[in-house]
Amino acid sequence: MKKMNRYIITFSISLYGALNLVSAEDDVNHGKQLYQSNCSGCHGFRGDGEGLAAKYLNPPPRDFTKGKYKFRTTPSGSLPTDENIAKIIRKGVRRTSMPAWENIFSDKDISDVVAYLKTLAEKFSIQDPAPELTIPSTIPEKTDALIQEGAMVYRLMECWNCHGPHGEVDGPTSDKLVDDWGNKMVAPNFKNEVFKGGDDPVEVYRTFSTGLTGTPMPGYDDDSFGFAREDVEGDYDNLYNVYSDEEVNEYAAWAESIISGDELYNLPEDEMYEIFQRRKWAMVYYVLSLREKESLVYKLFVKDYELTQ
Ligand code: HEC
Ligand code: HEC
Repeated sequence: MKKMNRYIITFSISLYGALNLVSAEDDVNHGKQLYQSNCSGCHGFRGDGEGLAAKYLNPPPRDFTKGKYKFRTTPSGSLPTDENIAKIIRKGVRRTSMPAWENIFSDKDISDVVAYLKTLAEKFSIQDPAPELTIPSTIPEKTDALIQEGAMVYRLMECWNCHGPHGEVDGPTSDKLVDDWGNKMVAPNFKNEVFKGGDDPVEVYRTFSTGLTGTPMPGYDDDSFGFAREDVEGDYDNLYNVYSDEEVNEYAAWAESIISGDELYNLPEDEMYEIFQRRKWAMVYYVLSLREKESLVYKLFVKDYELTQ
């Protein structure tokens, strides 16, 4: 009798396994059908980004064969989670030709397409996505002083190289940027263009942390904000090329007033971490403060958020 039981259990486990396998294959096949009829015109039959419409589109449609995804909750360079891919399919990518499919596809359709997209890059079969980044739950309050600090961090981190001194894409390398596929690309104008990864401060914070893989936009981890006075004071030559004398002087005064290494690195860890975090949020608020209040972007995406603050 005992033996019989064991037999039944093994049999039912293997049957369950087999059923699972069949349904996973069905999902991928269904995803493939949906992909070929809806996505391949842009992303290509093989998922290599070479669809018929591709040459007319800027930015070009993603090549899925490399496993490089821009919009993630995972660290720089990591694969995305299934939900990251699903979200883009549901919502589309603003400021580009990538449509939103949430009113066309069911949740099941979308997860089947995700399953199919993952078969296009070998990387998904040999790696798991890295753990998702967490965003601290305490967000410093937006104040003028914090925005001003963000402006200084922006000068220090040389965001202006690609984004221009005031976010208007007129920096020294603004017109020389290419993505990993060799396509020329431009960063958004902070004055009047929406952000693909989202416009609320938490989303912008996340984009700074993850970077946009496959593009020159780097990810900035918390340690990038671990600078002290000795690291930043002294040589301001590079700033004179892009900022006015007044702006460089303002920066120099800030650089010479921030916390020294001795003080910073002797702080209890949580207090030190709080300073890094404050600097990162300062930059988020600074970048968002560059939005022109009269612009459509501001009216559509930013004002509502600010009204609820
Ligand atoms: C009209 C052209 C077009 C169609 C149709 C289209 N896409 Fe896209 N898609 C794009 C473009 C362009 C981008 C690149 C956006 C960017 O790089 O900012 C993109 C990007 C993506 C991404 C990128 C995500 C990332 O994080 O990098 C995914 C996933 C995606 N598309 C899935 C799909 C799926 C699935 C379909 C069909 C259901 C589809 N697309 C149909 C144009 C299209
Ligand atoms: C080497 C060039 C480079 C540097 C340095 C750089 N960026 Fe970017 N950034 C880009 C490019 C290119 C894009 C556009 C990517 C895209 O649209 O796919 C971008 C996009 C962005 C976006 C919009 C993201 C979105 O969701 O659409 C923000 C905000 C941003 N950068 C802020 C910053 C800040 C702040 C810094 C400095 C800490 C910085 N960047 C440094 C090249 C750069």
